[in-house]
Amino acid sequence: MTERTFSILKPDATERNLTGKINAVIEGAGLRIVAQRRIRMTEAQAKTFYEVHKERPFYGELVGQMTSAPVVVQVLEGENAVAKYREIMGATNPEQAAEGTIRKLFAKNVGENSVHGSDSQDNAKLEIAQFFTEDQIVG
Ligand code: CMP
Repeated sequence: MTERTFSILKPDATERNLTGKINAVIEGAGLRIVAQRRIRMTEAQAKTFYEVHKERPFYGELVGQMTSAPVVVQVLEGENAVAKYREIMGATNPEQAAEGTIRKLFAKNVGENSVHGSDSQDNAKLEIAQFFTEDQIVG
């Protein structure tokens, strides 16, 4: 089924000029980038986005990292886009990520792990709506 997922190319990726290389992996896997914008995430946006993690010990560090440099927010579309993007991102911790995945190729560590992708269709809808209006998504 064709569906959408939400993606962020994180500060560690934009800082190292990796947005093109990561987009090449995304497109090479058959996912279509149907919306994309480079933004500086505000502290309020980062706190809202990662609210589910607010009790975790790394929450402050995570918010700090996400606001430390520009990010690229994206909507990806394709067959089983949520699961497919999670597969090509690889495990959260790059040390556990499979060969050829974005995090294995590019991530620095579990915190600076280059990309975010939605973990379910419900969260994809909520995350997309935090950053894009429907008219900004061109499929
Ligand atoms: P992401 O997929 O964006 O979702 C939550 C983020 O928290 C995760 O990627 C990591 O960047 C970060 N994260 C998860 N676990 C840890 C950890 N143990 N230490 C620091 N950051 C973490």
